[in-house]
Amino acid sequence: MRAPNHKLTEPWRFAILTGASALRFAELRRAHRATRFPDPAAPEAAKAIDKTYREARETTAFIIVMCANSDDPVRQDDDFAATMMAIENLLIAATAEGLGTYLRTGGIMLDAAVRELAQAPAAHRIVAIISLGYPAEAQEPKRRTDPSEKTVWLD
Ligand SMILES: Cc1cc2nc3c(=O)[nH]c(=O)nc-3n(C[C@H](O)[C@H](O)[C@H](O)COP(=O)(O)O)c2cc1C
Repeated sequence: MRAPNHKLTEPWRFAILTGASALRFAELRRAHRATRFPDPAAPEAAKAIDKTYREARETTAFIIVMCANSDDPVRQDDDFAATMMAIENLLIAATAEGLGTYLRTGGIMLDAAVRELAQAPAAHRIVAIISLGYPAEAQEPKRRTDPSEKTVWLD
């Protein structure tokens, strides 16, 4: 709620899936993944689909993040940026609590059944799905470029 948002539009909505709704989401992820293969029953495909399902089943909670749509392209961008900043705040807060997080986007965000599960308001689109839980093992941070390569200091 504290994230910067232009004109205080507060464009974000969050649906927090736990328990039965998290299980339902795992099923929807499995079904969505299956659509990505010409033959979902082929052994390689079945293995990949099952991996997606198992990982989702092992995830304690999901946060489906939604953002208000706007006919004004400037506001659309501002609201999307604000929602993403809210997400970053959320990820930092969760990490500080010892939780593990993972952010995903992708075609599943357009899935009508996922929208229904999240009770997405008609005027909002899903912009990210965050996995959340206490991590089974600590993960080393992934590679990042040194900030000096991305920054110019001017006076
Ligand atoms: C807008 C956005 C969308 C992303 N979508 C996906 C995704 O759909 N699937 C995925 O595996 N990673 C996705 N990622 C990447 C991961 O969340 C993660 O940031 C990346 O793998 C780097 O890992 P790290 O943040 O642990 O260093 C996305 C990241 C961003 C910022």
